[in-house]
Amino acid sequence: MKQAKRLLVTSALPYANGPIHLGHLAGAYLPADIYVRYQRAMKRDVIYICGSDEHGVPITIYAERQGVPPREVVEKYRENHRKSFAEFGMSFDNYSGTSKPLHHEISQGFFLKLHEKGYLSEKKVVQFYCTHCDRFLADRYVEGECPNCHAEGARGDQCDSCGRSLDQIQLINPYCVTCGNKPEIRETHHWFINLKKFQPKIKAWLDTKTHWKDNVKNFCYGWMESGLEDRAVTRDLKWGVPVPLKGYENKVLYVWFDAPIGYISSTVEWAEKIGQPDKWREYWQDEDTRLIHFIGKDNIVFHAIIWPLILMGHGEYVLPADIPANEFLNLEGNKLSTSKNYAVWLDEYLQKFPPDPLRYCLAVNAPETKDSDFLWKDFQARNNNELADILGNFVNRTLTFINKNFDRKIPAPGPLDDLDKEMLSRLKQAPEKIGNNLEAFQVRKAAAEFMDLARFANKYFNDQEPWITKKADITKCATTMNICARVCKGLAILMQPILPFSADKLWSILNIEGSVLDQTWSDAGQAHFDDGHSIGKLEILFNKIEDDVIEAEIEKLQKISEKQSDKQGEDTQVTNEKISFEEFQKIDLRLAKVLEAEKVEKTDKLMKLKIQVGSETRQIVAGIAQQYTPEQLVGKSIIVVANLEPAKIRGIESNGMLLAARSADQDDLALLTVEKDFESGIRIS
Ligand code: MF3
Ligand code: ZN
Repeated sequence: MKQAKRLLVTSALPYANGPIHLGHLAGAYLPADIYVRYQRAMKRDVIYICGSDEHGVPITIYAERQGVPPREVVEKYRENHRKSFAEFGMSFDNYSGTSKPLHHEISQGFFLKLHEKGYLSEKKVVQFYCTHCDRFLADRYVEGECPNCHAEGARGDQCDSCGRSLDQIQLINPYCVTCGNKPEIRETHHWFINLKKFQPKIKAWLDTKTHWKDNVKNFCYGWMESGLEDRAVTRDLKWGVPVPLKGYENKVLYVWFDAPIGYISSTVEWAEKIGQPDKWREYWQDEDTRLIHFIGKDNIVFHAIIWPLILMGHGEYVLPADIPANEFLNLEGNKLSTSKNYAVWLDEYLQKFPPDPLRYCLAVNAPETKDSDFLWKDFQARNNNELADILGNFVNRTLTFINKNFDRKIPAPGPLDDLDKEMLSRLKQAPEKIGNNLEAFQVRKAAAEFMDLARFANKYFNDQEPWITKKADITKCATTMNICARVCKGLAILMQPILPFSADKLWSILNIEGSVLDQTWSDAGQAHFDDGHSIGKLEILFNKIEDDVIEAEIEKLQKISEKQSDKQGEDTQVTNEKISFEEFQKIDLRLAKVLEAEKVEKTDKLMKLKIQVGSETRQIVAGIAQQYTPEQLVGKSIIVVANLEPAKIRGIESNGMLLAARSADQDDLALLTVEKDFESGIRIS
């Protein structure tokens, strides 16, 4: 493929309604940052643009639940993202936010342009309206059963189970997520983007993208097969970009209409910041730009179909050249869930560990072609056995040896033997090998190639036995150490995209002028030192991570998956969030009798109970084994939520949840019961 003159790289704008977690990083952020850092070392003209996604129902629902205005939420999380991304080494050229006036202005311009050019049409539509909340239920304000895959909890705009984007009216058994009521159907009017009419145009364009990743192509073609439907790009909401048309004063643009325009407005903001206010046009409006969007797989439809059509419709912008979407990252074998707090949050991670080991671990496990799993044990092993024992060890033994035996100065080499030549030839080939993988968005392979080079170097050191040759053949010893030092320098340049903090540290240990960021990628292959170059103060690059630290993290996640929705207990404050009586009534509380109780093996807390609920016997699993013995439980009357969805806890089916009071420190617990000996099965209200 012909090289474009410049690259414009973006990562999906994260919703500003919660901190960043590892799933985000592995999908849309780290692979992009590695790619951009590599391209900068290739001395290519590249800018890297991001910002937070600050509109839409994900934000307003969250803000309503917190009882604060949306603006407060988005500003808080924009800062949270900015800070933790920076600490993680994300090297954005600009990080903006879509609730800024500049973004509103640009988005409205896009809307008007598309309107003028016939890409939009106005339609009367029926939508769900909640009479209790007195509003239309846009997008995630309504949930129900997916008409496509029949999963429960499909949202009004998209089903997370099958990834299909939905028209809310198709939802089976819809309910208002705020109050739980069944909404009624009312008429409203909206602007739609004419996907149906432009399907052939989109298809023709997609057909040229033969080099795209299979997951992305398959998704797009699958989606088009059933025929594209026009999509509403306005909403009956108060928070968002106001629709710039008369008669639309109470409507805003759909978040997925304005959010990708955030890539543009953030670039415009960047150009203003660097004092060249027109510079953004080069990246967005000159044909010789390669626009690359890094995203997670849940964003494919919007980036590969709707967004390109918006850009085509406008007519003055480049189209995405590539969309390297990644699959999902799981956590300890389970799906990440932000609502259940089952995640590793970046801000929390960074309080405990340095960024580079996580960057490395996520790079080698990147969910490129299929979902992958983050395991704390694997994280520890990658850090201890690879970063510390291979890479760190090689650097450390090389520099210690030079310090001790060559008075801190890198010795000049003598004649080369075969092994020396092999080492140098591997170093020479490494930039291109690793680089080719990075060009092809194959971060896993790139990280593995990099570590292989360090592994070979470590073996080279061993095989050359400099501790022996220093007495027997000092010239050979000097040659070995000269080569090892050069490999250290080469490794510093090559590790920079994946391990930027360690690269920087190594650069200063090697006492080389300037910054490792200013180096040219291919120079890593011919790394050398001036005669008599002295190295700086030695420091450890990677510290080992102890078992107990890792165990604590694993246990934390296990607790969350066991406790499921029980996070209320940690708080002694009464929640502000009100529920309606109807909502309360949906919870079917029943009196039950414990028939059998048995501790779950290999757990401290879990007890498996067989209970009688009226005429029914059921099995439930509860975290009460530290406070009750099986004997104390059998015969007891307890209170259970009888209509809770069945769940598997440690692989054991649990069909209901018992109620208990927990002490503030979470250590003590008492079962709820009733004061009279009623028969089991009666309703509690
Ligand atoms: N906020 C969206 C998400 O987290 C991604 C938006 S990407 C953009 O899924 F292109 F629309 F900005
Ligand atoms: Zn409602």
